[in-house]
Amino acid sequence: MNKQLRKAVIAGNWKMNKTPDETKALIEEIKPLVKDADCDVIVCVPYIDIHTALEATKGSNIKVGAENCHWAESGAFTGEVSAPMLKAIGVPYVIIGHSERRQYFGETDETVHDRVRAALNNDLTVILCVGEYLKQREQNITMEVIATQVKIALAGVSAEELKEKIIIAYEPVWAIGTGLTATAQQANEVNKGIRDLIADLYDADTANATVIQYGGSMNAKNADELLSQPDVDGGLIGGASLKAPDFAAIVEAASK
Ligand code: PGA
Repeated sequence: MNKQLRKAVIAGNWKMNKTPDETKALIEEIKPLVKDADCDVIVCVPYIDIHTALEATKGSNIKVGAENCHWAESGAFTGEVSAPMLKAIGVPYVIIGHSERRQYFGETDETVHDRVRAALNNDLTVILCVGEYLKQREQNITMEVIATQVKIALAGVSAEELKEKIIIAYEPVWAIGTGLTATAQQANEVNKGIRDLIADLYDADTANATVIQYGGSMNAKNADELLSQPDVDGGLIGGASLKAPDFAAIVEAASK
């Protein structure tokens, strides 16, 4: 983290876990543990839990996010939820392009782009996920893959929007939910690569202001080392975000 330039952001990605009652219980457990955080703290929860999470976090420093949104304002898209719907219930953040969406639900760089646009049009802050498969890393094309994902997702996004309303999460697919973590050096290398790309596409100021997280088996033990890297501005946390003490330990690491 470089706290002179950027604020650290720790976001939990609860994935398909927790009922509304369980959501309330977990947030009540997290709240006192993170109340003095010197970083932004977000919990991204299933659609069905958003209302409960917004209620439970009222008056606290925890903000709430959704895990996806559709690209259209409304229409015949059974089972989907639109950005205006999220805006209407007052949820400020949304994850877009998570690798599980890309892997299991046919998400493409183009639909990621369209969803990012829909979210920005509705004043949501986007956590944009990018990441390579293990095979791509082995083929030495990590940065090409990431650059393609970033360029397509951000096409037409202004520097202001990028600085104010987009957080990028670098999540190597091989590190998600596997217990395998990128080394701190690997994480920083790609995050710096993304920042250099933003400097090329936009300018140095925009690159310096953009928050770039790492995600993929970040936990209470490895958070310190990952977050001590200059270009790792926080984390997107899956498994460890479901355990209050572990999530709080990561928030504490980001608060240093
Ligand atoms: P993990 O998930 O921390 O369980 O690896 C991270 C994510 O998918 O965002």
